[in-house]
Amino acid sequence: MTYTLTTPLYYVNDKPHLGSAYTTLACDALARFQRLKGEPVLFITGCDEHGQKIQRTAEAAGLSPQAHCDGVSAQYRELWERWQISNNRLIRTTDPRHRLIVEQFFARVEANGDIVEGRQQGWYCVACEEFKDDPHEAQDPECPTHKRPLEWRDEVNLFFRLSRYQEQIEALIAQPGFIQPASRRKEVENFVKQGLRDFSISRVNLPWGIPVPGHEGHTFYVWFDALLGYITALLEAGDAPDLETALSRGWPASVHVIGKDILRFHAVYWPAMLLSAGLPLPAKVFGHGFLTREGQKMGKSLGNVLDPAELLERCGRDAVRWYLLRDIPFGDDGDFQQQRFTDLVNNDLANTIGNMLNRTSSMARRWFEECVPPAASATGADHPLAQAAASARSAVLEGLEQLDFRSAAEAALQLAIAANGFLNEQAPWSRMKQEGTRDQVADDLYAVLEAARITALLMAPLLPELSERMLVQLGQSVPDSSATAQPDGAWLTQLTWGGLQSGALLPEPSPVMARLELSEPL
Ligand code: MSP
Repeated sequence: MTYTLTTPLYYVNDKPHLGSAYTTLACDALARFQRLKGEPVLFITGCDEHGQKIQRTAEAAGLSPQAHCDGVSAQYRELWERWQISNNRLIRTTDPRHRLIVEQFFARVEANGDIVEGRQQGWYCVACEEFKDDPHEAQDPECPTHKRPLEWRDEVNLFFRLSRYQEQIEALIAQPGFIQPASRRKEVENFVKQGLRDFSISRVNLPWGIPVPGHEGHTFYVWFDALLGYITALLEAGDAPDLETALSRGWPASVHVIGKDILRFHAVYWPAMLLSAGLPLPAKVFGHGFLTREGQKMGKSLGNVLDPAELLERCGRDAVRWYLLRDIPFGDDGDFQQQRFTDLVNNDLANTIGNMLNRTSSMARRWFEECVPPAASATGADHPLAQAAASARSAVLEGLEQLDFRSAAEAALQLAIAANGFLNEQAPWSRMKQEGTRDQVADDLYAVLEAARITALLMAPLLPELSERMLVQLGQSVPDSSATAQPDGAWLTQLTWGGLQSGALLPEPSPVMARLELSEPL
């Protein structure tokens, strides 16, 4: 079965920010992991291009909404290319095929008796594109997230009869694996317990949206249309824009990865819409935390937004990926700290991993004719580094399966730390000066090179480029985890201890990771 995973479809009201890059990077690691394991993967990302927020942004810039969306979605495309994100799809909700999918889906929901007319009154946040249930202040209320004034709305709209799905949604969110991390389940449970209310799925007087068939003057509410983008995205290039065809390409999704702020849409509204249309539900919704910067919320008004394109330019892909995946528990909020960023990159990647590989490969080349030395006991499963490799392997696989990127990264690093420790204890550089120790030195160097090979493979989903440089340095082939990979699961077998061939040529070493020196603050 296809492993379908999605990032949110990002609003194109503004250029990409670090929050969107964060989700996409994490999904990239997950997609690569699944491919390496041998699963066929559909990794979906895209842009959410309708709605009032985007219409207003375009107006303010003096552009047509379409021209505005074309410009910003191109920035997203370019950013993902520069980050070497391995997405299989990049859906734009202004794609003409999307409109047809939305129409077909709506027809099913309407035929099921789930669309009714109703009057919508309430306070609306255009930045969230959401009605707020209980504004804190009665007068001039503002959005708790955006700190901007809410707008009063009173209009006759089409409603989706969410209230009919109370019991099914309660049962769904009670399933242990559905909402992750488990700590986020409570807030959704509390919301559902209050009783699900029908929600409006159309707007009147909002031209920048998909027209609702049979209901003149109405366009679809941006969230109704956007969530369906996950299904349109399944279509292949030559496919007819047909709902059944799209679904046959990889539905249901294995996981929707999102930020915690849009959990309700994904864990409540979306499953109810799918139930109404008689379609299977996604297996999991993972709500990750928010990033702050040096303890402060990132925002335009504070002038402290980290631009992902600039960050990449100055620091490189490996460094940024490592920091975000290794330091921040994926379900929790995390703080981007420049000092910690440089410290971790330099200690973990340049020192621990870089030195392990460089010094061992140099010694092996010098003393063993530029080749992997012959092993005696080092290929055995009871060698201390074989045991370290086996525990690293299971911890990395388990961590990635759970979207616990931090544990996975730490476990891979732990193997390199163990290898360096072993090298320091055995001190082949001193042994080599004594008589009759050549076999022991060969065995020890083999073990460390083998640990380096396995560390490199374990790093492949997290840091594909560093992993590649390490494997090339060891004269090894590089597993393909890109969007076009043909998954065969060979990676899992390669993770078995003892795979390094004695006598294989070791290429000339060069540092696999440059130190990160930031002369100017980010
Ligand atoms: N368009 C909707 C999603 C529709 S999905 C069918 C949307 N877009 S968004 O661009 O505003 O947000 C995209 C994601 O970025 C959200 O999951 C949000 O949580 C995440 N983030 C926004 N700021 C963030 C941080 N500061 N840190 C981490 N993630 C953040 O919502």
